[in-house]
Amino acid sequence: MMPEVLVEINDLVINFYTYRGVVKAINGVNLKINKGEFFGLVGETGCGKSVTGSAILNLVQNPGRIESGEVIFKGDDILRMDEGEIRERIRGKEITMIMQHPIAALNPVLKNGDQIAEALGKKMSDSEAKKRTIELLKEVNIPEPEKVANQYPHQLSGGMAQRVMIAMMLATEPSLLIADEPTTALDVSIQAQVLSLLEDLIKRHKATVLLITHDLSVVAETCDRVGVMYAGDMAEVGDVEQIIGNPRHPYTTGLMRAIPSDHENELVGIRGSVPDLVNPPTGCRFHPRCEYATKICKEKKPETIQVESNHTVACFLYEGEKGG
Ligand SMILES: Nc1ncnc2c1ncn2[C@@H]1O[C@H](COP(=O)(O)OP(=O)(O)O)[C@@H](O)[C@H]1O
Ligand SMILES: [Mg+2]
Repeated sequence: MMPEVLVEINDLVINFYTYRGVVKAINGVNLKINKGEFFGLVGETGCGKSVTGSAILNLVQNPGRIESGEVIFKGDDILRMDEGEIRERIRGKEITMIMQHPIAALNPVLKNGDQIAEALGKKMSDSEAKKRTIELLKEVNIPEPEKVANQYPHQLSGGMAQRVMIAMMLATEPSLLIADEPTTALDVSIQAQVLSLLEDLIKRHKATVLLITHDLSVVAETCDRVGVMYAGDMAEVGDVEQIIGNPRHPYTTGLMRAIPSDHENELVGIRGSVPDLVNPPTGCRFHPRCEYATKICKEKKPETIQVESNHTVACFLYEGEKGG
């Protein structure tokens, strides 16, 4: 059965106009997320994952500008919708986002239960909303739901706050959940719990997830499909088994070899670091770090080549496989 595409990003270009110059952050990215899948977007810090995620909600912050491209969601281009319609239909409704710092994302003056009730919207009475709120808190495995509903966000641990965020997300029943480094700020012991909770709930509620992370091991554990981003380009996209078991792009291979350290910027296994995108490398942006780079890699941006079913790579090493 052909999967149904939920979101399609086409030729997205985003620049940031800073005092240092123009940061060429997103360099013509294409991406398809199918309905019902858990899609992982992975790459080192600074590769453009968060900017891509916020572009889906047309929320690129100043001094950023979406120069071109489209984000097709259920047949409409979100980048060409008016702000009123995005608020009415899309943001926090059809598409919700959970972030790295859940406590900061919650409203500090509203009790946890009231935030969830608010997310439920006006479709039910107060007493129904209360009842549903407690059910949702139970569903995210919060041990004392009545007590937590009556507390304020600052009284929660990071892990509990992320569970409240997930309950809020469930309340809105979104078609797409964008989770940007949802476990990066949590204790290691809690990270796996929150991820498996997310995985469970998504399956049960038949939602679609875009999980953004710098950690390839997180992707390996939870995702169905994976996109690997490097310096504003989509280097490789494939099923998780293909990306983990048969990585083709030299950057993906490097990420696989790398052991994520405690500092998210330090990955052992790939020499060098993500370039400053005010002056990105010519041709393939990965070429200065690539052990296979040849002359053409410095001169031309590689096309995206399909190397097997559902698996594409933007690299000159696979030129010969074009159309095959
Ligand atoms: N507000 C901003 N001003 C200037 N540059 C930005 C801003 N936000 C992001 N960028 C740049 O865009 C690029 C991609 O950033 P980001 O999407 O946050 O990376 P990631 O999420 O993969 O770590 C980086 O080069 C970053 O410096
Ligand atoms: Mg980010």
